[in-house]
Amino acid sequence: MNPLEDVKIRPLEEHDLETIVEIDRKVLGDRRRDYWERKLQRMDNKSTQISLVAEVEGNVVGFILGEVSGWEFGVPDTIGWIDTIGVEPVYQKKGLATALAHELIKKLKTIGVKTIYTLVSWSDWDLLQFFHAMGFTRGDMINLELKI
Ligand SMILES: CC(C)(COP(=O)(O)OP(=O)(O)OC[C@H]1O[C@@H](n2cnc3c(N)ncnc32)[C@H](O)[C@@H]1OP(=O)(O)O)[C@@H](O)C(=O)NCCC(=O)NCCS
Repeated sequence: MNPLEDVKIRPLEEHDLETIVEIDRKVLGDRRRDYWERKLQRMDNKSTQISLVAEVEGNVVGFILGEVSGWEFGVPDTIGWIDTIGVEPVYQKKGLATALAHELIKKLKTIGVKTIYTLVSWSDWDLLQFFHAMGFTRGDMINLELKI
């Protein structure tokens, strides 16, 4: 089976919560249901969010959470964000994240977004490699932190 031939990209819905929790657990090791429930609820309340899932043979195997900046951080609404992306480990390296990101980018473009931001941890090599492969480069914003 070639997942890319059978993949269906559709908007993320409330009932996808458990599957996303499971994908996250398989990827990162911990079951974080409360975290995902809060995160999806927060996103659901924002009209600016665009989140998608990838289905293969009727099963959700990947997701992407994105949104348009509503002038957050003084950033204009021509900026879109990719918040999180995740693909079920056995379905990785088959082009599913690329398909999800392309669909999100297409949707962001149609509503006027010109640039997309994302934040990736320096140690997340798979994500860094993925975004590099997608054509992302280092942006103008820098990440400041203060340990307290
Ligand atoms: C990063 C991630 C989204 C990539 O998903 P994917 O479906 O495997 O990505 P694609 O198949 O579309 O990859 C496209 C390109 O990105 C690069 N890439 C993707 N994963 C890579 C990896 N692990 N190592 C090196 N390059 C990688 C490659 O250049 C790849 O092209 P190629 O297969 O022709 O070499 C996936 O590995 C993942 O979910 N990682 C965990 C991310 C995470 O922590 N999310 C939060 C919790 S769920």
